[in-house]
Amino acid sequence: YKGKFYALPQSPQLFKQLLMVSGYDKYFQIVKCFRDEDLRANRQPEFTQVDMELSFVEQEDVMNVNEKLLQRVFKKILNLDIKLPIERMPYKIAMEKYGSDKPDLRFGMEINDITEVVKDTNFKVFQSAIEKGGSVRAIKVPNSASMSRKQIDKLVEFVKDYGAKGLVWMGYREDGVKSSVSKFLTEKNTGDILDSMKAVPGDLILIVADKNKIVFESLGALRVHMAKETGILKDNNQFRFVWVTEFPLLSYNEEEKRYQAEHHPFTMPMDEDIQYLDSDPGRARAKAYDIVINGYEAGGGSIRIHSQELQTKMFNVIGLSTEQAQDRFGFLLEAFKYGTPPHGGLAFGLDRLIMLLAKTDNIKEVIAFPKVQNASDLMSNAPDFV
Ligand code: AMO
Ligand code: AMP
Repeated sequence: YKGKFYALPQSPQLFKQLLMVSGYDKYFQIVKCFRDEDLRANRQPEFTQVDMELSFVEQEDVMNVNEKLLQRVFKKILNLDIKLPIERMPYKIAMEKYGSDKPDLRFGMEINDITEVVKDTNFKVFQSAIEKGGSVRAIKVPNSASMSRKQIDKLVEFVKDYGAKGLVWMGYREDGVKSSVSKFLTEKNTGDILDSMKAVPGDLILIVADKNKIVFESLGALRVHMAKETGILKDNNQFRFVWVTEFPLLSYNEEEKRYQAEHHPFTMPMDEDIQYLDSDPGRARAKAYDIVINGYEAGGGSIRIHSQELQTKMFNVIGLSTEQAQDRFGFLLEAFKYGTPPHGGLAFGLDRLIMLLAKTDNIKEVIAFPKVQNASDLMSNAPDFV
């Protein structure tokens, strides 16, 4: 229409927010979503959300309503009792302990920061990571010290998929320590690392040194991989829930040289972090929350900005000029002028929730006519000419 896009019908998010602006106090929608994202075992280009928006709420209100909903669903369908309140974990802790913003809490094997322990060793790999502002971190895998070279080589390849340059391993065996770096580290160095990891015979220590982002991502993935490999995670019969909170509001897009919203640009910053929007936007945390079940993000939401001034500032921070913001979102900014109730909401991924309830690891199992890699439907051959 006159070269402009219709924003409303395309965005379930704006749709429900505008209803709050117009005075509805509660709204619930079951919506088909279409996203141009890479296909994964838990991701489809067309999926369904159970989506809600509430006015005059704070973050805790939205989480309370939704954990009660989950409690009821899991009781009804699996006869499982979820104890409320569900644990809350700040994003920073989730990343540091589990290397992921969707930590699987069915098992431990937490990530340990051993930067201080290794900072005086002569091993170049550790030194250069630390010098560049990165860190050295490790996980401890029980009963795995005698893994074969071939098996360990596969783990090295595994972490390389996540950008790690290598993987240091130390097997604490009854007859001594076997390690990939025995020629770089003294016996004391190795002993210090094992001590700091509280290792016992049988443990395999796996270490990555790099930028924090790579260390977290590679060890976070390796942690889940090892739990499956070693049989610590046998089946999907156990359920562990956690709310992840205090997400970063923005992330820096290196290619486009600008900040972008981590969730969406309507997300409210945490009150104490609004001050950073001008000085240090990357530091601001959001009033955003995800419900994570067994390492899957089953749902997520946020409290929204309801002030014209703050919303305009957010658009500016992500690189939209005030004119561009007016042009694209003028209707929203204009509506905010008339006094908008504070509001927020959350959407569950219905297919993902059902995948978990059905105890499968693949979303295709619970979607009729799932799409394949190029987003087509093999049954009807869609998309095709009508
Ligand atoms: P978000 O983008 O986090 O939030 O999506 C909400 C939930 O939808 C599910 N989901 C998916 N499921 C299958 N395939 C996909 N490609 C896919 N993408 C997302 C996830 C996720 O937690 N409008 C906001 C919600 C809000 O702020 O209220 C939103 O869409 O389970
Ligand atoms: P190299 O010096 O490349 O021969 O590596 C010696 C050992 O350190 C090998 O076991 C590598 O897999 C491992 N390694 C190399 N780079 C890293 C890194 N960034 N983090 C962890 N281990 C590494």
